[in-house]
Amino acid sequence: MRSLRRGRRPLLIAAGAVALAVLAAPTVLALFALVTVAEALLATGLVVLVGAVAVLALAVRRTRGALREVSQEIRAHTRTVTETLGRDRLETIRALDATRARVNRLSSHSLPKLSREINRAVTTQGRHDYEQHVAWTELSEHLDTAPFMPPLRGWAASPDVLRVLVGHIDRLRPELVVEFGSGASSVWMGYALRRAGGGRLVAVEHDVRYAELSRALIASHGLDDIVEVRTAPLTEIGAVTVTVGDERISTADRWYDTSVLEDLEGIGLVFVDGPPKATGRHARYPALPTLLPRCTEDVVFVLDDADRPDERAIGDRWLAEHPELHRTEAHAEKGAHVFSRKGV
Ligand SMILES: C[S@@+](CC[C@H](N)C(=O)[O-])C[C@H]1O[C@@H](n2cnc3c(N)ncnc32)[C@H](O)[C@@H]1O
Repeated sequence: MRSLRRGRRPLLIAAGAVALAVLAAPTVLALFALVTVAEALLATGLVVLVGAVAVLALAVRRTRGALREVSQEIRAHTRTVTETLGRDRLETIRALDATRARVNRLSSHSLPKLSREINRAVTTQGRHDYEQHVAWTELSEHLDTAPFMPPLRGWAASPDVLRVLVGHIDRLRPELVVEFGSGASSVWMGYALRRAGGGRLVAVEHDVRYAELSRALIASHGLDDIVEVRTAPLTEIGAVTVTVGDERISTADRWYDTSVLEDLEGIGLVFVDGPPKATGRHARYPALPTLLPRCTEDVVFVLDDADRPDERAIGDRWLAEHPELHRTEAHAEKGAHVFSRKGV
């Protein structure tokens, strides 16, 4: 519309000029007495009339043109809106179809599968809980413990592993037990040694804070004459590269400061439950090669968390490097592998 107005301006100026000239013509002719005044007035009236008709016709033509332009614009907009709406509608329908298909797939495949998996997990967890409850009860009664014992499971060893350890203490009557990683298990094994009538436990702990907590726990159970917690910070040992299956891995480069182990001889049982996995790959590997020369002939090593691939690989390395050893797998929720000399 604005362009229409811009285009009309020069046209109007030209038309105005022509109209003025035509209007002025009869007057000029009358002035020179070439026509009479009446003829001049008639001619002027005629010119005005013709001019008005021409202007009106022009206006009608322009208005029709503008209307045609506007209606074309409206048609184009309408087409765009219709196409956009149609496309959106199509996309909405497609999205709805895809959602419907996904919901159908979910309800016919994934949901039953998920529900089966949840059922299986709940059943397994229930069985584990029951087994740990039974092991806890058996241990408490067998060891005649205090009514309030430090909780097991989670960060601590599970009751089923403690039951394995207590079984070895009862059978071997070791004079010296070494544990890597102190905590609740130190207390439970302290009770087992007291019941066995002899032997002591050295619990090696890298964390000063947990060493203090373990000492306090042991003292609160009156076991400090049996259990000693030794603080041994993790120190540099130099990582090595080993092959596990097809993989070449670099092992943890820190282990307990071995100076705290120097006076230990005649070790009959070793519980390997530290250092933490976060220390690096094969973090618990050094326990056996370091302590084996200080152990009795019938020594037993119990490796906790043996269901983890890293712990299984540690056991594989121990067996490969010490063919005199063999491994048995104890039934435990986190896995417990027992290593002893063959034929002993
Ligand atoms: C795998 S945990 C096992 C400790 C111990 N053998 C047991 O079963 O109770 C290993 C490390 O956990 C840390 N720890 C000890 N007491 C803890 C506690 N109450 N909460 C979290 N971590 C603890 C200690 O640094 C310990 O060396």
